[in-house]
Amino acid sequence: RVVAVIMVGGPTKGTRFRPLSFNVPKPLFPLAGQPMVHHPISSACQKIPNLAKIYLIGFYEEREFALYVSSISNELKLPVRYLKEDKPHGSAGGLYNFKDLIMEEDPSHIFLLNCDVCCSFPLPQMLDAHKKYGGMGTILVVKVSPESASEFGELVADPVTNELLHYTEKPETFVSDRINCGVYIFTPDIFTAIEGVSSQRKDRANLRRVSSFEAMQPDSRSLTANYVRLDQDILSPLAGKKQLYIYETVDFWEQIKTPGMSIKCSALYLSQFRHTAPHLLENGDGIKKACIIGDVYIHPSAKVHPSAKIGPGVSISANARIGAGARLINCIVLDDVEIKENAVVIHAIVGWKSSIGRWARVQGRGDYNAKLGVTILGESVAVEDEVVVINSTVLPHKTLNVGVQDEIIL
Ligand code: GDD
Repeated sequence: RVVAVIMVGGPTKGTRFRPLSFNVPKPLFPLAGQPMVHHPISSACQKIPNLAKIYLIGFYEEREFALYVSSISNELKLPVRYLKEDKPHGSAGGLYNFKDLIMEEDPSHIFLLNCDVCCSFPLPQMLDAHKKYGGMGTILVVKVSPESASEFGELVADPVTNELLHYTEKPETFVSDRINCGVYIFTPDIFTAIEGVSSQRKDRANLRRVSSFEAMQPDSRSLTANYVRLDQDILSPLAGKKQLYIYETVDFWEQIKTPGMSIKCSALYLSQFRHTAPHLLENGDGIKKACIIGDVYIHPSAKVHPSAKIGPGVSISANARIGAGARLINCIVLDDVEIKENAVVIHAIVGWKSSIGRWARVQGRGDYNAKLGVTILGESVAVEDEVVVINSTVLPHKTLNVGVQDEIIL
């Protein structure tokens, strides 16, 4: 038996995702028409034969996930549960917090997945490799450019045995272009390892307590003892001890920290649908009859004029209306948006209930990692007819009647 745990974080973790995280928890923001967290969930469900249960662990309010969790459990016919931490315990502490519940399933293996990564989730291959290595954990690894490596956990592995030899989290000086993808498989021994870190901390704190006035602040001490990060506190010290191994993927992999990256990742998932879920892609022959180019998702309730030209890399959510002659490329159009005749939307996210006027242009240059490399319209933004908005972020409820470029409109 295997269980999958997806770390979804909480509201304070999603701040770089503003203004989109004002409306919806980041893990539920739609990529390729499905909530972000849906992609690892459906991968796990489709690919792991003995999967008993999926847990989402986070510190968002339970009600924010309730609807999604119940509908996805029904759809997949597999129990998916949201477990709420009372406060953040770190990526390993959060897992440990629910040890007893997870162990009720008596799993032989636990997949642990960060929710803000976009990849093909090669889980069966990881499981096979992990069984062959015989360690406590196997980490999914990818090669990135040396310039970007420092944004991630950099690591060195033995080229023959694949043992993890050295691990440094976001180092200031270059260590390696092989990085941690945030996708792991562990045996239940991971709980013993986390327990080891927190009891070491408690011991140290108690030692300090006898020698200093820290005895006055018991709460802050127990907080740090239970706050355990998987990368710094577990992976780094266990490297080179024949307990951790790597599985390297050559498939696509991206991290989703900013709205810009969600446009890129939405397009990546759309192209993956060609192989995994072609029925979700629009082909232009159905009732929509618009001119469709490449991989496009259109929610069945959206209305698209037959003369609109859409794609590649476009996802259109529920009840959106796309007018005659509109042109959409690489963008995410959210629920209840109206895009009027002959408007152009490129490298952009159009927020819930926003409207874009006739002949208007909402565009980014397509630099997904830059601060202002795409255009983001928050909820209920109105761009009036013929107005041009380039590389800008517009906060909710604004009306634009003049053009803007490279600006944040507060
Ligand atoms: N439930 C819960 N509680 N989840 C948490 C907590 C917590 O206290 N802290 C972090 N998370 C979740 C985040 O939502 C995210 O999915 C994952 O754990 C990792 O988040 P961070 O610890 O903030 O690390 P990061 O995303 O900056 O970097 C990690 O992931 C990279 C891959 O995307 C590191 O492991 C890097 O080494 C790695 O390259």
